[in-house]
Amino acid sequence: MYKKITQKIVEELEKIVGRENLTIDSEKMVDYSHDEFSLPDIARMPELVIKPKKTEEVAEIMRLANKEKIPVTPRGGATGLCGGCVPSCGGVVLSLEGMNRFIEVDRENQMAVVEAGVTLMDFYETVEEAGLFFPPHPGEESAMIGGVIATNAGGARAVKYGVIRNYVRGLEVVLPSGDIVQLGGKLMKSSTGYSLLNLIIGSEGTLGIITKATIQLMHSPQVTRSLIIPYENLENAIETVPFLIKQRILPLAVEFVPREVIQITEEFLKKKWPCSLGNTYLLIILDASNEEEMGRLSEAVAEVCMEKGALDVFVADSPKKQKQVLDIRSKIYEAIKANVLEVLDIVIPRAEIARHVKIVRDVSQKYGIWLPTYGHAADGNVHTHIMAARFEKGNIIPLSEDEWKSKFEKVREELYRDCKSRGGMISGEHGIGIVKKSYLPYVLDEEIIVLMKGIKNLFDPKNILNPGKIFD
Ligand code: LAC
Ligand code: ZN
Repeated sequence: MYKKITQKIVEELEKIVGRENLTIDSEKMVDYSHDEFSLPDIARMPELVIKPKKTEEVAEIMRLANKEKIPVTPRGGATGLCGGCVPSCGGVVLSLEGMNRFIEVDRENQMAVVEAGVTLMDFYETVEEAGLFFPPHPGEESAMIGGVIATNAGGARAVKYGVIRNYVRGLEVVLPSGDIVQLGGKLMKSSTGYSLLNLIIGSEGTLGIITKATIQLMHSPQVTRSLIIPYENLENAIETVPFLIKQRILPLAVEFVPREVIQITEEFLKKKWPCSLGNTYLLIILDASNEEEMGRLSEAVAEVCMEKGALDVFVADSPKKQKQVLDIRSKIYEAIKANVLEVLDIVIPRAEIARHVKIVRDVSQKYGIWLPTYGHAADGNVHTHIMAARFEKGNIIPLSEDEWKSKFEKVREELYRDCKSRGGMISGEHGIGIVKKSYLPYVLDEEIIVLMKGIKNLFDPKNILNPGKIFD
């Protein structure tokens, strides 16, 4: 179906980017065969990895790939968890890592213009140096801007100010044809035709390659504070969340995490979580315009939490301590990933979350399988990890392959059934990629998938851009 990369094509690509920005050496390409979720049956070696430095180079690569019918898989920081940047049909991996320039921080308009390969880490740093703030924190800071836009990432800190989509104002995109389009701009709003900008956001690199983005920023909050609130059990912790919202308390982040995964992550990172009471925690990040307001807000939060069964309230005030806490929270997946079969990304109405988590616990008991569950409580976004292990008295006991294989699909099905019955979706922030593709028809009506496929076909009639993702 696709053309294999020949010596002649390698030479033509070398002319576009220079020999040093391309490789066909399989040893050097191993890293480009998988993302952060790297089960062997998902990974696939590319035939060639190319690292353009300019939009025009990306366009030329696409023109050639389109003419020759070679699949191209765009890739950012590869921190994804669904195989979205895995070259599942072989061909070219187009890594945006060389396009990592900060073009502008426009203080007047509070916008940053950056290339797609800028990492979140560099983005936060530069934005903060300019006295501005970018609220979303999609976990792994080695993720790149283009990638977080391509999955419409969320992460912690999305409760009050929203997910990535709420910040992207403009995009430069290279289409599968090689045409370059500019969508949106430094605009706070637009009703000028269909929003192709919003279509590209979350399209997982299947419609176009994001090369540049204009991102809305905010003033830095005067004061932020992280509260770590231990509970005896998960249900009480999660049940607190709707009560906070009812009291008109809107934090930057409300995360729920069980103690067992925090302990594993503490050991993994050699960092200390500020509290060891209880079995489960809420991590609540607050912002306010002054200390007095923060004092009142924290008190109001503490009051609601204590009423709902919290054991205590721990405060992390200094930027260093807050960073430490967020770091531990953000690295849980990395710490436990050795035994992870799949990380679910279920999103349900937030008032349903406690009931869903109860079902997770029942399923875990029924099948004798460890299902560590944490996530973005106030977003209704739950990450249950289906593990190839049991968890008993603090010990991880691996399951044999036969054992986990007999349970994995049934467990996933039961959890997705519960998700659907609550009006949920199978991805709140990670995307569909390869891993969740088989369940897309389970939650989306056929007419919707037909429309989506029609859009894909319009952008990419030869199906060369990131083929095999979202749907077949
Ligand atoms: C997190 C990833 C798994 O929330 O999305 O840590
Ligand atoms: Zn998450």
